[in-house]
Amino acid sequence: MKKLLLLTAGTTLLLAGCSRDYTPVAGATGEDIFKGACMECHEAIEGKDNIFYELSSEKKNADFFADKISSGSLIMPKFPNITGDNLKAVSQYAVEHSTEK
Ligand code: HEC
Repeated sequence: MKKLLLLTAGTTLLLAGCSRDYTPVAGATGEDIFKGACMECHEAIEGKDNIFYELSSEKKNADFFADKISSGSLIMPKFPNITGDNLKAVSQYAVEHSTEK
């Protein structure tokens, strides 16, 4: 019985890592969403103010961010409730706060 409980707890933790239910409030700007949803894991690059990503030129665009936010990865959660204009706004904010490799 104890084993089963542990197993259940472990599975729940794993699943929680795959998707976040963060939902932007009405009227949220890209910056608001970035601060609310992303900065927990993505900090500014050391020595740079408000620059969070260092990307190759193919990746430094809003589509790349939007795709990453919607799909996530093995480690990064996806954000199914960031959609439409909110998705555009936060993707645009992130591009503007990225630097090219
Ligand atoms: C729970 C932690 C976590 C949160 C929250 C998070 N990320 Fe990530 N993100 C990661 C990790 C870990 C990676 C590196 C591994 C990977 O690419 O999946 C990553 C990678 C990325 C990449 C790829 C960077 C590259 O060099 O290719 C982008 C773009 C990105 N995140 C954008 C975002 C945005 C935008 C948000 C907010 C909507 C966000 N992340 C929220 C953990 C997180």
